Amino acid sequence: MTLEEKLGQLAQYGGAGTRIDPKHRAWIREGRVGSFLSVYGAALTRELQTIAVEESRLGIPLLFAYDVIHGFRTTFPVPLAEAASFSPELAGEAARVAAIEAAAAGIHWTFAPMVDVARDARWGRVVEGAGEDPYLGAVMAAARVRGFQGRDVAAPDALLACAKHFAAYGAAEGGRDYNTADISEATLRDVYLPPFRAAVDAGVASFMSSFNEIAGVPSTANRRLLTAILRGEWQFDGLVVSDWSSVGELVAHGFAGDRAHAGRLALAAGTDIDMASGIYGADLIADARAGRLSAAVIDRAVRRVLRAKERAGLFDDPYRHSDAERERRVTLTTAHREAARRVARESIVLLGNRGGLLPLSPAISTLAVIGPLADDREASLGPWSMRGEPKDAVTVLDGIRRALPRARVLYQRGVPVEGKDPAGLAAAVRLARRAEVVVLVVGESHRMSGEARSRSSIALPGEQAELARRVIAANPRTAVLLMNGRPLAIPELAAAAPALVETWFLGVETGNAVADVLFAAHNPSGKLPVSFPAATGQAPTYYNHKSTGRPAVATEEWSSKYFDAPIEPVFPFGHGLSYTRFDYRDLRVSPAEVDASGTAVVEFELANVGDRAGLEVAQLYARDPVGSTTRPVQELKGFARVALAPRERRRVRIELPAAMFAFYGEDGRRAVEPGEIRVQVGSSSSDIRLRGAFHIVGPRTPAPDRVLFSAARADEIGGAGGDKAGGTGGSAVVGAQRRQ
Ligand code: BGC
Repeated sequence: MTLEEKLGQLAQYGGAGTRIDPKHRAWIREGRVGSFLSVYGAALTRELQTIAVEESRLGIPLLFAYDVIHGFRTTFPVPLAEAASFSPELAGEAARVAAIEAAAAGIHWTFAPMVDVARDARWGRVVEGAGEDPYLGAVMAAARVRGFQGRDVAAPDALLACAKHFAAYGAAEGGRDYNTADISEATLRDVYLPPFRAAVDAGVASFMSSFNEIAGVPSTANRRLLTAILRGEWQFDGLVVSDWSSVGELVAHGFAGDRAHAGRLALAAGTDIDMASGIYGADLIADARAGRLSAAVIDRAVRRVLRAKERAGLFDDPYRHSDAERERRVTLTTAHREAARRVARESIVLLGNRGGLLPLSPAISTLAVIGPLADDREASLGPWSMRGEPKDAVTVLDGIRRALPRARVLYQRGVPVEGKDPAGLAAAVRLARRAEVVVLVVGESHRMSGEARSRSSIALPGEQAELARRVIAANPRTAVLLMNGRPLAIPELAAAAPALVETWFLGVETGNAVADVLFAAHNPSGKLPVSFPAATGQAPTYYNHKSTGRPAVATEEWSSKYFDAPIEPVFPFGHGLSYTRFDYRDLRVSPAEVDASGTAVVEFELANVGDRAGLEVAQLYARDPVGSTTRPVQELKGFARVALAPRERRRVRIELPAAMFAFYGEDGRRAVEPGEIRVQVGSSSSDIRLRGAFHIVGPRTPAPDRVLFSAARADEIGGAGGDKAGGTGGSAVVGAQRRQ
């Protein structure tokens, strides 16, 4: 390969959907492009691939990448919503469908999953990940990687996945996008890295470096992250791509003097592909010729790109993903829409239901649907819906009308999402007064979360709080639905709403999924993957915080709290109600002592004590009360999704390897320490029903830097003890299985 051809493989350029810059055709012919992003469609990708394969000197196929974040044409719930399902099976299924559709449209590589832990609700990109918890984040990261890549990543319906944004992008100061992360090594290792590590273990093909710096070193040129940790410690052998123009941005960071310097630093640190800066493909040629860049560094990156193309099967058949007939056949099929509806309804979280207003009776004769988001097709799809088309979306209003074909379903927008335009307020209130029941939909537009969508206030925007206040006053039979891509600070609404339902952005089947829950075709089981603070000023809010020397006590003045706001979130991590009630009892933790290589078993009985079938996500939290460095007050260590018929009971069993309690110590090592581990089991991080403990004994023992998952099962009581684990269709389903 010539130098130009090598650097060409490292250059990625952006297209505009079904069009590209005309000069790029010539560049492909000259071997100066290795990959494209945001170019799709079987026809165009096939045409460009033909130029690469037939007309360039070496005939190396192109890779086509795209942000397939939550579905391709069939838009699934945003990733934050999917995390609320606590179901790796469903998240994997959604990723699989996305891969099938995208691959047929010529895409080989998705820039997903986004696995950034997000503790600050002001940050708009909370919507793209699995929320605030490293354990749930790791479970979801692995499931999504497996879903995108399928059983065989070279299959014509598989995508190379990409764990992004490496690393600690979610730790941006002040929740402001692209901002600096200044965090300790322990926080990096114990909080932000586990989902990435889990993605590696799941076989992820690529990583994307993040825009931010940590401790003065921007990720795109961070040798320690990209090479020492990723390749050295984790043995990752895939590809690293920069984020959009993040190689060039090393200059603005004040880390590189000019573009070529930025390119040298990024490539040497381990960023193999330059997305959209145009530096590797142009500015580095002179540097390499002048000996300022070693041939070995270039060759290493080129080898990784070629290996990724080989992994995707492109040297066997470069056209395997661009198939116009398959594209027509697999896009937005009935089966895919059904999958989207299933995932969507499992992502809905019932936040409050005072007086049991929900579920609503399907026999209602007059129902008012009010609110600016109730009939907003774009908002239904959510941010990053990319190939999703608003016309395909079923809005909340559509879904309710379909579910109640004989009822009078009337609609008033009320007020806009943002800004002041109170003209519609009075009409909305009049309608509310007349209706038997009101469904009020408020929240954020899809443009308010996602990239560069940080907010300084996470209150309900515009006049929606006033709309909600007036509508609820006019009709106490009002169910409030939220649509949003981040936690909102809504203490007054939470207190006033007779029923409150978090619907996030649920994708193309939004309205059908919402109607399934409102009218009890589906009993909600989602749980919050993020805490909902009481005020913006509480940010960052996360359940797995440290104790401090003066833990917050409302009545204790000199404790770590605010004097003008509560310290507790309005809705804690893991919160989510059901139309039935679950009872937890009879906790047993055994054995009382395990050594660092042992496994403790936590067992308890879970019963459905209501009169409807339902599914509970039983959560297991642990606390290590004394550590050589301080440990969080609670950490999720396992969960089980257990479906129970009315009055059915099951014995849930969760295995906790002691190695799960390893943490990054002052000596720079991960180790398991001896001492007590307190176990809490419950329905949310604050609704703890059962408590127990065990001890880890023996010396402080080094532990491998791996994410361990607890194995969970739910056995019938008194029966044959059948373990109906694994699928969502059985009467018992479980959370993550432990990886071997
Ligand atoms: C985002 C990435 C995305 C890339 C390509 C960037 O601005 O940060 O998440 O994959 O653009 O669209």
